[in-house]
Amino acid sequence: MTDQPATDPLAEIERSLKPYRGELPTHARLPEEGVPREEVLGQLRRMADAEREKWEGGHVSGAVYEGEAEHIAFLNEAYAIHSQSNPLHLDVWPSAAKFEAEIVAMTAGMLGAEETPDAIVGTVTSGGTESIMLAMRAYRERGRANGIERPVMVLCETAHAAFDKAADAFGIEQRKVPAGPGHVADVAAMEAAIDERTVVVIGSAPAFPHGLVDPIAELSEIARARGIGFHTDGCLGGFLLPWAAKLGHEVPAFDFRLPGVTSMSADTHKFGYAAKGTSVVLYRGEELRRHQYFTFTDWPGGLYATPTFAGSRPGGLSAACWAAMVSLGESGYLEAARRILAAADEMKQGIRATDGIELFGDPLFCLAFGPAEEGLDVYRVMDEMSARGWSLNGLHRPPSVHICVTLRHTQPGLAERFGADLAGAVQAARAQPTAEGGMAPIYGLAASVPDRTLVSEFLRQYMDRWYVP
Ligand SMILES: Cc1ncc(COP(=O)(O)O)c(C=O)c1O
Repeated sequence: MTDQPATDPLAEIERSLKPYRGELPTHARLPEEGVPREEVLGQLRRMADAEREKWEGGHVSGAVYEGEAEHIAFLNEAYAIHSQSNPLHLDVWPSAAKFEAEIVAMTAGMLGAEETPDAIVGTVTSGGTESIMLAMRAYRERGRANGIERPVMVLCETAHAAFDKAADAFGIEQRKVPAGPGHVADVAAMEAAIDERTVVVIGSAPAFPHGLVDPIAELSEIARARGIGFHTDGCLGGFLLPWAAKLGHEVPAFDFRLPGVTSMSADTHKFGYAAKGTSVVLYRGEELRRHQYFTFTDWPGGLYATPTFAGSRPGGLSAACWAAMVSLGESGYLEAARRILAAADEMKQGIRATDGIELFGDPLFCLAFGPAEEGLDVYRVMDEMSARGWSLNGLHRPPSVHICVTLRHTQPGLAERFGADLAGAVQAARAQPTAEGGMAPIYGLAASVPDRTLVSEFLRQYMDRWYVP
C-alpha cells in the first residue's frame, strides 16, 4: 500500500502466520533424503499440540464446532478406513455413492423435504463456498437456457462473500441491496432491485456478520411470484435452526417448507459436526441440479462427468461426514443445539449487561456487538478480548465484532467468563483507546483508506506472505 503507516501491519501478521520459523526445520526444497516417518509425525504433533491450545478451551469464534477428543477420533477412524476412496471412480468405490446419496437425503429431510411434494435433491460439496458457487452457476445456466444472456443475482450486502466470488467467477451481475432496519435484508428494496434479467434472489439463515435470519418467507414469495429462483444460504444455520425450532425457539421459516425456496446450502462441516471439507447443496427438483453438473463427451481421455467442481475428491471426507450424521442422529443434533443455545443465551446476557456496547438484534447463536458510546473503538475491545485469550471475528460497515457460539463454548463456566472478560475488555479499551499491535490499527487503516483497491492489495500481500516458507 502506498499510504503505509510507520509500523508495517503485515510484519506483525507475518510473525503470527509463521511461528514455526526457527522452531522446526523449514523445507524450502525437497529434503535430499526422506525424513524418518517418526520424526515427521513428531513435527506434525508439535504443531497440532500448539494449535489445539488455541481452540480446545473454547475461546475461538466458530472454527471448531464439536471438538471433543472422542468425536474427533471417531471421524479420523472413519476417514482412515476410506482414505483411498475417490468418488471420481465409483466403479472402485461405490461406497462413496452410498455415503453421498444418504448425506444429501438426510440433510434434505432435515430441511423440509418431507413436507413438500417436490423432490429435494442435491450433491455433497467441499464446503459452503463451493455449495454457493455451484448453485449460482446452476442459476446462470438455467437463465441461459431460458434466453437470459446477462444474468443478475439480487442479494443483501450481508450475504456471504462466496456470492461475490460466484459473481466474479461466472460473470453474474450483482444487485447488492443495503440491509434494512434490524440489519436484515430489506424486502421492499430487494423487490425493487429485481428485473427481467434476475435469475436468483438470495437470503441468509442466518447471515454471517450479525447472525440474523433474513425475512426468507417474504423474499422467497416475491421470487416465486415472478418465476425466479431463490437460494437460502443455510451454510451456518442449516444444521442448527431446525433443532432450535424443535426446542421451541422462535425461528422464522427458511427452508423447503416455503414453496419459493428453490435451493439451499447447508454445511456439514459446521454444525453438522463433520470433519472440515464437506457441505451440501440442495435443489427443488432435478432440473436445477442438472444445470450444476458438468459433462464433456469429446475428450480423448474418455467420457467425463462430475457433479461438482473438483475432479478427484476425498471420498474419506464423505465417509466421515456420513459417520458423523448417522452416529449423532436426531437426538444428538437436538442435544447439541440445546447446549449451544443455552450457552449463547448466557453470552447474549453478558453482552447486554456490558455498558458501552450493544448487541445487534436478537440472534440465536452468532452474536455481534458494536459500540454504544462515543469514542469506543470496538476493535480495541476485540484486541483486549484477544489479550484475555479469546479469538473473535472483526466485522465492518458498521464496525462490530462477533462470536459464533459452538459446542466448544458449552464447557462449564465459559459463557459466564465471556461476560466478565467482555466487561473488563470494554473498560480497558476505554482507558487506552489506542495501542500498538493487534488488529485495531489494521481495521482502522482499512476503514480509513477510501480506495478499496489499496485494501485489496494489502490482502493480496498477506496471501503472498502465506506462501513464503
Ligand atoms: C452464512 C455463510 N455462508 C457461507 C459460508 C461459507 O462457508 P465456507 O467457509 O465453508 O466456504 C459461511 C462461512 O462461515 C457462512 O457463515
